[in-house]
Amino acid sequence: MPDIVLETERLILRRIDESDAALQDKILNTPTVMEHLGGVKEPHELEAKHAKTMASFAREGFGFMMLVEKSSGDLVGHAGMKRVDNEHAPNQGDHEIGWLICENRWRMGYAYEAMRSVVDWAFTSIGVPHLAALTSEGNVGSWRLMEKLGMERRKDLDFSDPSFSPENNPTIQYSITQEQWEATQ
Ligand SMILES: CC(C)(COP(=O)(O)OP(=O)(O)OC[C@H]1O[C@@H](n2cnc3c(N)ncnc32)[C@H](O)[C@@H]1OP(=O)(O)O)[C@@H](O)C(=O)NCCC(=O)NCCS
Repeated sequence: MPDIVLETERLILRRIDESDAALQDKILNTPTVMEHLGGVKEPHELEAKHAKTMASFAREGFGFMMLVEKSSGDLVGHAGMKRVDNEHAPNQGDHEIGWLICENRWRMGYAYEAMRSVVDWAFTSIGVPHLAALTSEGNVGSWRLMEKLGMERRKDLDFSDPSFSPENNPTIQYSITQEQWEATQ
């Protein structure tokens, strides 16, 4: 498989290519997966996001990746690291981790498995000083995952984003430093 970035026990995390926006649209762009993320995206929005992450990999050596289940070869998620780029965020430019898992693979430990390897990669290979993660109070699975990764709640970084519904506001943040991550190992 080309462009493997990370490998875990059950998953391969590979760089995205031009054909992945269509695959993401089919497998991950569902009302359930996108419930707390502003809803289902238009194909052109996914293409723009993928173009951005390919440019990020070329420029900075990191971005979001496709998660492939080793046992089946199926695409099961999209996760990785990017810069905080929400125009309302007080910490634009910080390194941000994020994740989506296709709904028929939820609660199998895939997000945790993938993100442990992404966080380790961010600190040991890319050398970032700290990581942020953004979600909303209603996205319980997501902030519980942040807590399971050892991240701490950062109320000082919360912000409102008018492009999200009232139920998905404010955006709340968690963060972790390299020292905090090492302490969890
Ligand atoms: C959030 C999401 C990625 C979790 O993926 P997952 O592979 O099911 O998560 P895991 O099985 O690895 O679970 C890891 C931990 O996350 C938490 N968690 C995940 N889903 C949860 C849920 N529905 N309710 C409560 N806690 C949950 C738990 O702490 C869990 O640990 P545990 O199993 O020991 O209790 C998945 O639900 C998803 O894709 N949601 C839609 C997309 C999204 O909102 N992404 C986040 C953007 S901020």
